[in-house]
Amino acid sequence: MTVIGLIGGTGLAHPDGGWLPLGDARTPYGPATGSILGASRWPGLLYLDRHGSGGERLLPHEVNYRANLWLLREHGAERVLAIYAVGGIAAELPVGGLVLPHQLIDYTWGRAHTFAGRAGGEGAAHVDFAEPFDAGLRQALRRAGAAAGVDIHDGGVYGCTQGPRLETAAEVDRMANDGCTLVGMTAMPEAALARELALPFAAICLVVNPAAGRGPPGTPTAADVHQVVAAARRPLIRLLTAAIPLLREGVT
Ligand code: HPA
Repeated sequence: MTVIGLIGGTGLAHPDGGWLPLGDARTPYGPATGSILGASRWPGLLYLDRHGSGGERLLPHEVNYRANLWLLREHGAERVLAIYAVGGIAAELPVGGLVLPHQLIDYTWGRAHTFAGRAGGEGAAHVDFAEPFDAGLRQALRRAGAAAGVDIHDGGVYGCTQGPRLETAAEVDRMANDGCTLVGMTAMPEAALARELALPFAAICLVVNPAAGRGPPGTPTAADVHQVVAAARRPLIRLLTAAIPLLREGVT
């Protein structure tokens, strides 16, 4: 049975109760953002909250991505799924939609973004990253969506910005020119670190707002985002419930 690591974000924290911490969160790269959790309801699934499981929410540039990926692998994760809340750039990706991105562009800077090199030594340096998201995992997610009756938009280019501020409208225009259809702040270096550790990796994105300059004037409020996240929780859980057995059995 394949062990699945699930990294929850703003779009999904703690999918259902009964979770137990599986050991502490220390790693050679510092503390992970929380303990790895397991639940008897979801055998073979390991869960980690990207932004921290305590009261304090870590911002995207504060997350210890290296520790998180390292800890998941140390606990036996063989495939990793990550959930992201994102802004929609392309008109066909409206608020509330779930998207399976197939590509990404990294606009972040200054993050601890590799295991390779003298300070790390865990990962291979020049890993092939032409296709950042695993095709087999994406196919399993598409199948699970169809089986569970959950609409998923297949394909998207995730532009990862540094944050924590949101983008200017011109930055979003530039990203659209670059080919980005989604904007978020956390897929990098997460996806690249998973690749360095040879962990097949896929992302499920929940569009929680139109990107800057793409919607009505005014920033979406935290309450707006909260409402979108709350409405998406059930379909997301249905999707994961259908996907996890497929992924655990190695079906793609
Ligand atoms: N920009 C960057 N990150 C985000 C956004 C956004 O509009 N929405 C959710 N995460």
